[in-house]
Amino acid sequence: MHPDLDTATIHDIATALRRARHVAVLTGAGVSAESGVPTFRDAQTGLWAKFRPEDLATPEAFARNPPMVWQWYAERREAVARVAPNPGHHALAKLQVRFETFTLITQNVDGLHAKAGNRNVIELHGNILKTKCFECNAPQSPAADHAIQPPPCSCGKSVCRPDVVWFGEALPAKAIDAAQRAARSCDVFFSIGTSTQVYPAAELPFTAKQRGALVVEINPDATPFTPHADHVIRAPSGVALPRLIAALEG
Ligand code: OAD
Ligand code: ZN
Repeated sequence: MHPDLDTATIHDIATALRRARHVAVLTGAGVSAESGVPTFRDAQTGLWAKFRPEDLATPEAFARNPPMVWQWYAERREAVARVAPNPGHHALAKLQVRFETFTLITQNVDGLHAKAGNRNVIELHGNILKTKCFECNAPQSPAADHAIQPPPCSCGKSVCRPDVVWFGEALPAKAIDAAQRAARSCDVFFSIGTSTQVYPAAELPFTAKQRGALVVEINPDATPFTPHADHVIRAPSGVALPRLIAALEG
């Protein structure tokens, strides 16, 4: 048993879940860490430890050097296509069917929640496996062999880009609206595997707390939200979430 998995905390959360009608979950890169997908800010594995975000994940970076940015995402796409959901993802898929309303909001772009079986996932920052036009935003499905150069868009005005949110870009309006509605109306809110530093996603647990939800943080490390959480599980999500499911089913 993981040393930081406090049985009383798990029991209290399971009790609250049994009474809940609407459960909302916000996930970050930490949930995919146990699948082998690098996080952003963890020192030892963080993607940003090797690159500066502004050199890769901005419209200006792409306009400056489309092949470099396209290739970086092509490598990440290939890496993500090779990984599988971990026990944390599978536990969230099991949770989905237990409540009248279950809203899964993710900052992750790896598509692993859908791969694990969650439906209607709100992808706040897009999906690295999807592509759109840099100019007209139309969804594109380029041939797989465009690993070096971004392929042209059918509109003829520009080229394809990854369908992810870059720094300085607005989040998809429908996604952030749905996420904020869920944070305002849920009974229990989980903030899992996120450093809670990137807004507006980072606002969601604070909103849920203000609106009276019971808020649970699952993260091996502290975050700016930790002092506000009703319960904190200081453990990896791939360990904590299956334990929570076992307590619910127990
Ligand atoms: P970060 O890399 O900022 O934070 C990852 C969090 O996961 C940290 O708090 C870790 O402590 C925690 N963590 C690590 N391993 C874990 C595990 N096994 N189980 C649970 N938690 C674990 O990633 P995010 O918070 O997701 O945005 O970053 C938010 C956004 O910043 C990303 O979506 C991306 C980035 O810029 C865009 O690209 C727009
Ligand atoms: Zn176009």
